[in-house]
Amino acid sequence: MRLENDRVRLRLFEARDIPDRVRWINDPAIHEFLDKHLPISEDKTRRWFDRVVLDDSQAHFVIEEVATGQAVGLCALASSSTDARWQRAELSIYLGEVAAQGKGLAKAALQLLLDYAFSHLHLHRVYLHTAVENDRAHGLFESLGFVREGRLREETWRNGKWCDRYIYSILSNEFVGGTDVP
Ligand SMILES: CC(C)(COP(=O)(O)OP(=O)(O)OC[C@H]1O[C@@H](n2cnc3c(N)ncnc32)[C@H](O)[C@@H]1OP(=O)(O)O)[C@@H](O)C(=O)NCCC(=O)NCCS
Repeated sequence: MRLENDRVRLRLFEARDIPDRVRWINDPAIHEFLDKHLPISEDKTRRWFDRVVLDDSQAHFVIEEVATGQAVGLCALASSSTDARWQRAELSIYLGEVAAQGKGLAKAALQLLLDYAFSHLHLHRVYLHTAVENDRAHGLFESLGFVREGRLREETWRNGKWCDRYIYSILSNEFVGGTDVP
């Protein structure tokens, strides 16, 4: 199966992508709302990779810009055992190359990822969490048809304080397809 449209290509994360992931997550412009334990090292990322590559309940994709062939970020679907039973998965995304942001590439990547989730994996529900301050992410997810379901109070610890997060979801019958890329 080919996960590609006019703007981006998704390919499975490989060992050669480890340095990019380390650089992206350690960049303060990227990790502000990602709730990762920092700093991330290459060793730690290699251990993460060795684990996820064997785990069928997770799929981590590198986002490549078609025009340049450059890797610009990552997106993923992950299911806990309960999620898998109820045909649902948690989505995540970041564009690690700041210059690649704001050009519609994240939206193009998520159109492919959601198409894969609903048409190939036959999921019923895809959900995600965002920091309540992350307006850019809210705009992205709402433009794809995600519905904000609620606010989770003091769900994470960031910058020395407890922080609220929103939960968003999209159901299989709400996704309008992967071809309408701006
Ligand atoms: C969140 C992120 C993935 C968005 O990427 P992006 O490249 O800006 O998104 P796009 O250019 O594809 O924009 C898609 C939609 O987002 C919305 N959007 C973009 N910039 C926005 C902004 N500054 N404010 C509000 N909405 C915005 C628009 O609705 C746009 O839809 P449209 O093209 O129909 O108008 C990117 O900023 C990022 O990686 N940030 C750091 C990590 C992060 O926060 N990840 C999300 C964690 S939940």
